Amino acid sequence: MPSQAARDLFITGLRNAHAMESQAQELMERQVERMTDYPNVQARLREHLEETKQQLLRLERILEALGSSPSALKDMALSFGANIAALGHAMAGDEVLKNTFANNAFEHYEIAAYKSLLALCPQANAPSAEAPLRTSLREEEQMAAWVDANVEPVTLAYLAREERAAA
Ligand SMILES: [Fe+2]
Repeated sequence: MPSQAARDLFITGLRNAHAMESQAQELMERQVERMTDYPNVQARLREHLEETKQQLLRLERILEALGSSPSALKDMALSFGANIAALGHAMAGDEVLKNTFANNAFEHYEIAAYKSLLALCPQANAPSAEAPLRTSLREEEQMAAWVDANVEPVTLAYLAREERAAA
C-alpha cells in the first residue's frame, strides 16, 4: 500500500507540473509570434509547443486516472502564472538573448519536475504513469540540449543584426 503522503505529494506534483506546462505553452506562444527574425529558433519553439500540448494531455490523463478534478488544474495554472510572468520578454533590443536564457532555465526546471514525479511513481503506486512521464522528460531534455547549444549561435546572429543596423 502506498502511503497517503506519497499519493498526496504525487498528485500535488502532477498539478504543479500541469501549471508549469500551461505557463510554458503561453510563454512559447508569445515568443513564437515575435521570433520572426530568428526562423530556426521559431521553428524549434513551434515544435516544442506541440510537444508541450501533448505533455499537458499526458498529465491530465494521469490525474484523471487518480481521480483529480480539472477545476483544481485551472487554479494551479493561474497561481503558477503569476510567478513566472516576468519570463515573457518583449522581443526588443537584446530580448532574444534574455528569452534564450529564460528558456534555458525553464527547460531545466521542467526536467527537475519530471524527475521528481518519476521518483514518486513507485512510492505512490502509480506504475502506469511512468512511461508517459518518461516520454515528457525525454522531450524536455532534448529541448534543453537544443536551447543550450543555441546560446552561442543566437548571440552571434543577434550581434550580426546589430552590426548590420549600425552600418
Ligand atoms: Fe519544455
